[in-house]
Amino acid sequence: MKKTVQMYEGKAKKVFKTDNPDFVIVQYKDDATAFDGKKRGTIAGKGAINNKVSNHFFQRLEQIGVQTHFVKELSDRETVVKNVEIVPLEVIIRNVAAGSFSKRYGVDEGTQLAISTLEYSFKNDSLGDPLINDYHAIALRLATRDELDKINRMAFMVNEFLTGYLLGIGIKLIDFKLEFGKFKNEIILADEISPDTCRFWDKDTNEKLDKDRFRRDLGNVEGAYIEFMSRLLGE
Ligand code: TMP
Repeated sequence: MKKTVQMYEGKAKKVFKTDNPDFVIVQYKDDATAFDGKKRGTIAGKGAINNKVSNHFFQRLEQIGVQTHFVKELSDRETVVKNVEIVPLEVIIRNVAAGSFSKRYGVDEGTQLAISTLEYSFKNDSLGDPLINDYHAIALRLATRDELDKINRMAFMVNEFLTGYLLGIGIKLIDFKLEFGKFKNEIILADEISPDTCRFWDKDTNEKLDKDRFRRDLGNVEGAYIEFMSRLLGE
């Protein structure tokens, strides 16, 4: 497969066309942003770590019947994925209160939730990715009811799988963000699952092994990404 022109540059990835219109190549960057791009920095080695970590999760998820955009890892930072049309929603699952949920509802970070929850944000940086409900998403033609039902089912399957898998390596899955895309009229899992898009806490110490170390200036950001990858992949 031949990489051709750049199609898009996001905050953490670039996307290139290939000679096959069904496939594109994503290239993971070391750039990190937070708060809708207002905070900017670099996390050395992040691109290669997120590429490997996300591909590992996506391949495991395929094995349990979750369809994803993953096709083939090309190199340290590059992966061939299906050329989906992204549904402009950030789908967030939470098991334990943290981040914006804790702030919004006045719940201490670390409080176990009575049930795992799901919420959507409208993917729109200039509006600050506002929280949106299912009626609003359908009204704005972002997705249909059937698509949202499928997205919800898939998101909870991902949660169930990841929660157990990560506990096996001593990590609690606090919350995470997924994005979905349409490929040949099917909803499939897209974007990435990595320390950029999840909260991972050490099971015993609650040490944060994710991008909150960057967002909150907690230090040892690179070390946390490396620690997460080595627990997951033994590298
Ligand atoms: P929040 O508590 O800040 O709403 O974040 C919930 C989860 O979503 C957390 O695991 C981090 C992830 N996330 C992203 O992947 N991208 C984002 O832009 C934001 C705000 C959060």
